[in-house]
Amino acid sequence: MASVRCVALMVAALALLAGSASAQPPEGCMKTFAVTEKADPATFVVPTGVDPNNMTALTGISAGFTNPVVFGGSGNSNRTAGISHGFCYYFGYDAKEEKTYNYCHTTLVFYYGPAPIGSITFSGPFSDWADSVFENAISGGTGWFAGANGVVKVEVKSALEQYKYVVRLDEKSRQCK
Ligand SMILES: *[C@@H]1O[C@H](CO)[C@@H](O)[C@H](O)[C@H]1NC(C)=O
Ligand SMILES: *[C@@H]1O[C@H](CO)[C@@H](O)[C@H](O)[C@H]1NC(C)=O
Repeated sequence: MASVRCVALMVAALALLAGSASAQPPEGCMKTFAVTEKADPATFVVPTGVDPNNMTALTGISAGFTNPVVFGGSGNSNRTAGISHGFCYYFGYDAKEEKTYNYCHTTLVFYYGPAPIGSITFSGPFSDWADSVFENAISGGTGWFAGANGVVKVEVKSALEQYKYVVRLDEKSRQCK
């Protein structure tokens, strides 16, 4: 009897350990952390007949995107954070300066292993040219990030290709309090 209970306890303890080890990446409990979105203009979802590489043609329409996101600001960490889903409305393009003015809604869905653990949604004017830096407001979150407030500081590394997002939450996720 005693050994059966002992084994049951050990199994329970191992399950707890496994649970805590796989519950989340460390960033899940940070108020501030960086991720990098790696985009490919060829994967934009644009209306039929529109050339996604022609910014003049994109002006006045919306384009959707689904891109991989890694942890860290360099884009080279190889640590999967999740997927960025969203769309932008392109309201202006300055061809001379090669500056794209748009308004984007973005949801970062965080994965740990195969399972999504939560998401953060942010929106705002999106000034899309290299070295552009601005903030968008976090409008909310789900799962680990339910009730999220704060800002995302966007740093455009390469327009239409690489974006660094510094997520600045007002408070740690509910799971970490
Ligand atoms: C880009 O799109 C604009 C507007 O549709 C068009 O006038 C222009 O010829 C296009 N440029 C190229 C290089 O296809
Ligand atoms: C990420 O993967 C690439 C390609 O496999 C490799 O060259 C690079 O060193 C990796 N970076 C890190 C930080 O492990």
